[in-house]
Amino acid sequence: MVAKPPFTCFGSDRDAGAVRMAGENAERAGVSGWTTFRQHAVSDLEPPEGPPSLVIVNPPYGARIGDRAPLFALYGALGNTLLERFTGWRVGLITMDHALARATGLPFAPPGSPVLHGGLKVTLFQTGRLG
Ligand SMILES: C[S@@+](CC[C@H](N)C(=O)[O-])C[C@H]1O[C@@H](n2cnc3c(N)ncnc32)[C@H](O)[C@@H]1O
Repeated sequence: MVAKPPFTCFGSDRDAGAVRMAGENAERAGVSGWTTFRQHAVSDLEPPEGPPSLVIVNPPYGARIGDRAPLFALYGALGNTLLERFTGWRVGLITMDHALARATGLPFAPPGSPVLHGGLKVTLFQTGRLG
């Protein structure tokens, strides 16, 4: 078991398999004592109790998705949810697609260079504290 840090990590996905695998990975990594995973849609995301902190998002973006058009609505819903409910939080989001990042409406700083993630070139987009 890894020593418990002074915070808890919360994760969610609408897919039951992704939630189960995240829990199993946390168990194997020895961090299950301070991680919690729940199954729900991004539009049902609520901030946990406690001071504002950091939201990290790994949304769908990949080359495996033939039609990216539906993803614009998903990124828009993500951005709306964060802007409405996560005042004071910072956001980090990785994606291959800069147009999808813009579709969130989040106030991202200019991104850095892309990095390889699972064989795909992804870029980390970051905000300051949401107003
Ligand atoms: C790139 S994968 C990330 C998988 C996993 N969450 C992780 O971070 O390793 C994108 C994930 O977005 C999830 N997803 C797609 N639409 C969603 C929605 N409307 N609400 C919540 N999760 C969604 C998919 O189920 C998929 O697991």
